[in-house]
Amino acid sequence: MQRLLGRYPPAREHLLEMLHDLQDQNPQHYLSDDAMAAVASYLGLALSDVRGTASFYSMFSFAPRGRHIIRICASPPCQLLGATTVLQKLIDVLGIAVGETTTDGLFTLETTSCLGVCGVAPAMMIDDEVYGNLAPEGIEAVIEKIRREDEAS
Ligand code: FES
Repeated sequence: MQRLLGRYPPAREHLLEMLHDLQDQNPQHYLSDDAMAAVASYLGLALSDVRGTASFYSMFSFAPRGRHIIRICASPPCQLLGATTVLQKLIDVLGIAVGETTTDGLFTLETTSCLGVCGVAPAMMIDDEVYGNLAPEGIEAVIEKIRREDEAS
């Protein structure tokens, strides 16, 4: 953790980048209390200040998540084009509700505001990859593909 923080000058303007990096390098994709305390100490800030800043942004999580984060867009353009039925299919296929993680620790399901890819609405991201023009019929194949790739890695 200290090595990661040491890549940045100890200045508050780097706070969000540090938090991103710490969350990314955590295999459970979340900001632990220890990670936020380390950032606070490195920047000379109060832990409550770091936590307060992080909690303002929906991309940060404060609880362990799955190896793959599914974020489906819940903004109106995607909603109008069927995101709700796609979300319901994800819920059915994964057997979890929004905000939950599958029991095998593989997937966490989240909603998000506009992903910036409205041209391919309805859309979702799984980790760093965008999936657009979604339909419920295609969801099971996407999930199975990721399961297979994960098993093979
Ligand atoms: S509204 Fe869904 S990607 Fe923009």
